[in-house]
Parts: sequence; C-alpha cells; structure tokens
Amino acid sequence: MSPHPIRIAPSLLAADFTRLAEEIASVESAGADWLHLDVMDGHFVPNLTIGPPVVAAIARVATKPLDVHLMIEDPWTYAPRFLESRPAVLTIHLEVARRRPQEALALLDAIRAAGARPGMALNPDQDVRALSPFLPALDLVLVMSVFAGFGGQRFMPAVLEGPRVLRQELGFRGEIEMDGGIAPDTIARAAAAGVNAFVAGTAVFAAPDRAARIAELRAAAESARGA
Ligand code: DX5
Ligand code: ZN
Repeated sequence: MSPHPIRIAPSLLAADFTRLAEEIASVESAGADWLHLDVMDGHFVPNLTIGPPVVAAIARVATKPLDVHLMIEDPWTYAPRFLESRPAVLTIHLEVARRRPQEALALLDAIRAAGARPGMALNPDQDVRALSPFLPALDLVLVMSVFAGFGGQRFMPAVLEGPRVLRQELGFRGEIEMDGGIAPDTIARAAAAGVNAFVAGTAVFAAPDRAARIAELRAAAESARGA
C-alpha cells in the first residue's frame, strides 16, 4: 500500500476566471489539499491558459499548496518565473524532457534547489518506462488519464497500468498523481492502481456542493486503497 497521503487537487482550469479568488477560497474551504494550475503554451498543447503573472496572483491569495503543471515546450526559460511563486510541486512533461535529457535533469535539480518538488507528467500514449532516466530526480509522476490540453475529457482506463509499472517494475517510491476525467466513478480505479494524488477539474467545480464532492472523492479513494 502506498505510504503517501491522499491528495485531492482541484484544477482551476474549471473555475470561473472572473472570480478566481472566490473560486480558490471555495475549494479550499471545501477540503482541497492542493490547487492544481494548468499552464499551457499553445505549442505543446493546442490551448493557451495562464502564465507567471496569474500564477503569482493565485499564490498571493491561496492558502493551500500550489501544484503547477507545465504543458509547455520550453520549461527551461519559464520554470524560474513559476518558481518565484513558491509552488509545492512543479511538473514538466516527459515528451519535452526526453529531447534534452541532461538539461532536463539539471532543471529538475534546479526545481528542487528552489524549494519545490520536481514532477514529471506524461500523456496516455507514452510508456512510463521512458521515465526511467528521470525517476531518481523526481518526487512525483503525473500520469495523464486524458491527452493534455483541455478539461472535461473522458477518463482513459488504459493508463491504469502505468502506476503499477512504476511501482512494481521501476521501483518508483515517490507520489503518483493522475489527471483527467477524475470523478467519483473513476477515482477508485486510480487509487487501487497506486495513485495517491488526484486532479479533478469538472468533477469539483461543476458540483452543486463542492465540499460534498471532495469528501465523496476522498472516501472513494480511501476505500479503494484500503481494499
Ligand atoms: C488537462 C489538464 C487537467 C484538466 C482536468 O490538460 O491537465 O488538469 O484541468 O480537467 P477534468 O478534471 O475536467 O478532466
Ligand atoms: Zn493538469
């Protein structure tokens, strides 16, 4: 069984951006453990979201740790800007890192040296074994359960094999997060596969009672993990 705590991380991509401070306060009081921030550059993914100034503004009002997911082609240029907001976790993508592996390892070390926990994400078409050269430098692996780029997509169960390979074959002992289509009906399968951190955008922000929804997600994850 995983030693890591269950973390429910609402993705602010599904929030009302005209009322961001209220939305943050709402999910924090509803029981969120982390705030998941999706940074997209219009190149790595066909969508554009927020950059360093908005992350800095969020950091000023947030009371929960920031979990920043960089879906960008050039994390080397921009990671230092995001680190100024003191995120708890800063995650880059495998598909970018593997093109420049030595420089990616150096960036992961720089993230740690700046006081954040280094993470690496991968899309559903990637083999988690390709993470091997980076695993010693990682505190967290983010297994995408949809293709990165948009909220509200359908969970892809084929990715559930990834956490098992990470744990049993590759011996990874850090945190495993899953992102995309996490909802009360999918979170149990992710938890049973060894995931401990769960990103949920639509499932939390569209719920009529966000506290009840987060409690429901947490209970489903706990019981699946204990089973
Ligand atoms: C997609 C993002 C996700 C997204 C999840 O590229 O990484 O964090 O906001 O949204 P839901 O939970 O609606 O699938
Ligand atoms: Zn994300």
